[in-house]
Amino acid sequence: MSDKNKTYCLINYGCQMNESDTEHYAGQLQELGYAPNPDFHTADIIIVNTCCVRESAEKKIAGKIGELKAVKRANPDVVICVAGCMAQKDGEKLRKKHPQVDLLLGTAYVNDFKRLLLEFLAERKAAVYTDLTIHQSEFEGHMVRQSSFAAWIPIMYGCNNFCTYCIVPYVRGRERSRSIDNIVAEIEAAVKDGYKEFTLLGQNVNSYGKDFGDKDAFAKLLRRVDIIPGVERIHYMTSHPRDMSEEVIKAVAECEHICENFHMPFQAGSSEILRRMNRGYTKEKYLELVKLVRKYVPDATITTDIIVGFPGETEENFEETLDVVRQVGFTSAYTFIYSKRSGTPAAKMENQVPLAVKKERLNRLMALQNENSLKCHEKLVGQTVEVLAEGPSKQKTVWNGRTRTGVLVLWPIEDKQYEVGQKVNVQIEAAQTWLVKGKAVD
Ligand code: SAH
Ligand code: SF4
Ligand code: F3S
Repeated sequence: MSDKNKTYCLINYGCQMNESDTEHYAGQLQELGYAPNPDFHTADIIIVNTCCVRESAEKKIAGKIGELKAVKRANPDVVICVAGCMAQKDGEKLRKKHPQVDLLLGTAYVNDFKRLLLEFLAERKAAVYTDLTIHQSEFEGHMVRQSSFAAWIPIMYGCNNFCTYCIVPYVRGRERSRSIDNIVAEIEAAVKDGYKEFTLLGQNVNSYGKDFGDKDAFAKLLRRVDIIPGVERIHYMTSHPRDMSEEVIKAVAECEHICENFHMPFQAGSSEILRRMNRGYTKEKYLELVKLVRKYVPDATITTDIIVGFPGETEENFEETLDVVRQVGFTSAYTFIYSKRSGTPAAKMENQVPLAVKKERLNRLMALQNENSLKCHEKLVGQTVEVLAEGPSKQKTVWNGRTRTGVLVLWPIEDKQYEVGQKVNVQIEAAQTWLVKGKAVD
């Protein structure tokens, strides 16, 4: 078989940063002449890009890597590569447990994948790469993106925050910002390829540029990206409440293309828990920040991440989380049960909360948040909103897309043809917990 007919299968887990890395792997594989193949049973190269943020993710991924044993047995020539955060964390240990893995690639090696793959193919010797210090922050490669209109743009890598529950700083290394020129060049190239919607990615985008000594660099970057011709929508995530500045909020208020959504994880409502999480803000500070957002951008949606059952969380502490949810009225929230990550300070804390209590709290939190989501969506009924069409549903009965503020909108297909990525005005007629429905008015 010539190299031309060889195929790859990418299996991605985890956050948007991982999705972006996976698009980078796809770009490098295509440069080498490999074609995509969704079926890992028949692919020549399989990459599993892994996440270890919670134990549940790790269990699922370990199961998937286990499945690949039979694939290797059936085809010893297949190249199995495990990349990403779990690979970074477990390194050699993971390969010992799963000897079918040929290449184990930590998070700092995304740019070097092509070279390391070619080295492997020349020698067929299993290898483990987990040095975290070699990572370059600039990016010159070619991405093969999942979407045809929305692009992930990493603006920084790593995290310096060391929230006490979180494994990410240990597996992604220290913060490194890309230069504005390098970011702008990638966006301009993507615009030429037809991309319209851009999400700037980082674990804490508000500290973008601190490593080159400019505390307002993120606001400047937003304003710079806003004026790139052809850019229609700009999103960014994740914002850390401690580092979110008035300058950034003003940039969102003033720039035409920056979308009116603030994703600001608050994690817990109790200031005492926040202190023990090392989050660097209090409940009051967070609520003030929300006020500031509402002052400059009154129609913005605010979304969040919340953890229940952090070690030592009492019923009273948890009530404060519910209180913040009630006061802010988040449009949506990602809610998580605290998961013990060994190597993090919280894993050693006393008074770990029993699973049954965590589950019960999660259910109460989700019930309250669902009410909030419905209320936020009901406010849209009667309004006409600008939606970017993402595609038809599986049954081809409705189109779906999102508002600038991130709300999912469905509208009937009827006879009209839309292009993916097209702007459509939709009049909202009904609200549900997860989405709104309406009809196209143009
Ligand atoms: N850098 C981002 C997101 C990081 S991970 C931020 O700081 O907001 C995404 C979310 O996973 C976090 O916001 C947090 O809510 C959750 N998370 C991280 N570690 C966790 C753990 N050990 N257990 C449960 N949830 C966790
Ligand atoms: Fe984890 Fe905190 Fe960094 Fe987010 S800011 S990645 S929660 S350590
Ligand atoms: Fe998971 Fe790594 Fe992202 S641990 S959440 S894939 S940074």
